[in-house]
Amino acid sequence: MSAGGRYPRTRLRRTRRNAALRSLLRETQLSPAQLIWPLFVREGKDSVEPIKAMPGQHRLSVDRLAAAAHDAMALGIGAVCLFPVISAAHKDAAGSEATNPDGLVPQAVRTLKEATPELLVITDVALDPYTSHGQDGLVDAAGSVCNDPTVAALCHQALCHARAGADIVAPSDMMDGRIAAIRDALEGEGFQDTLILSYAAKYASAYYGPFRDAIGSSAALGGADKRSYQLDPGNLDEAVRECRLDLEEGADIIMIKPGMPYLDVVQRVKQELRAPLFAYQVSGEYAMHVAAAERGMIDREAALMESLLCLRRAGADAVISYFALEAAALLTP
Ligand code: PBG
Repeated sequence: MSAGGRYPRTRLRRTRRNAALRSLLRETQLSPAQLIWPLFVREGKDSVEPIKAMPGQHRLSVDRLAAAAHDAMALGIGAVCLFPVISAAHKDAAGSEATNPDGLVPQAVRTLKEATPELLVITDVALDPYTSHGQDGLVDAAGSVCNDPTVAALCHQALCHARAGADIVAPSDMMDGRIAAIRDALEGEGFQDTLILSYAAKYASAYYGPFRDAIGSSAALGGADKRSYQLDPGNLDEAVRECRLDLEEGADIIMIKPGMPYLDVVQRVKQELRAPLFAYQVSGEYAMHVAAAERGMIDREAALMESLLCLRRAGADAVISYFALEAAALLTP
């Protein structure tokens, strides 16, 4: 007989009868330590600027970061990841500001590692916040994003972040071969303990819209898109290949992005590769939840907690989410 037998001897509702039973038998847990909070960093002083496309999120000047880091620490958040908002005056076609040792990101990393040394700091390795054209890489005369010259630039950017003290560098650009090249560059300078979190399966997604507004890359992009390097939303086998390759090249952790529309990708990659895996609940997912809740269409807290738990259930070890702080507070008795 199959395990459990049949009704009425088997009544699956018995284990759902009350909260104590449901907690006892919940297969997936979500804790603040599994949440990563993205922070937008801007130039200037004493500035907390609301992001229109992402109500509740802000662009912080470097001097405001320590307070945010203390909030995250107090709630047991696992890590923060940094995204810079660069003024047009500091953007150029080559994204040269990306490797400035006194640029916004190195400054932010140094500030955070001084204020909260135990809080892990993840930096984004990609050129889009710094390029006048808004692409993640270097563009040739015909407008194509060139792989190998971009990889060389990304190595310099990753080293710049590692020198500032970043715990984890996170290439989000989707160039080929960049994980091996960045790993070699880090080894070459003695940064053997700097982790690489590879945005291994990053899809060409419409759900990044609010983020591009937040960092000001959408205006730079104009009508252009990133489909010549980010994954096609219809592909799953290709995502597994991307993840496997990045692990072979030396990535410590791989990431799937976006989150909720790509739960099958999270599940399959986890099941096939059994490697550390994060999911990124991106800006568009955040904005949808916020907007629907604002209009009274869904219960904000219940829906955001469910969305995070479900990413964990699919197979994500940790989740990057703009709801991290709010969720951690809700998880803290
Ligand atoms: C680009 C980058 C993007 C995000 C993180 N890094 C957007 C893009 O590829 O245009 C998106 C994050 C989000 O939407 O929350 N390097």
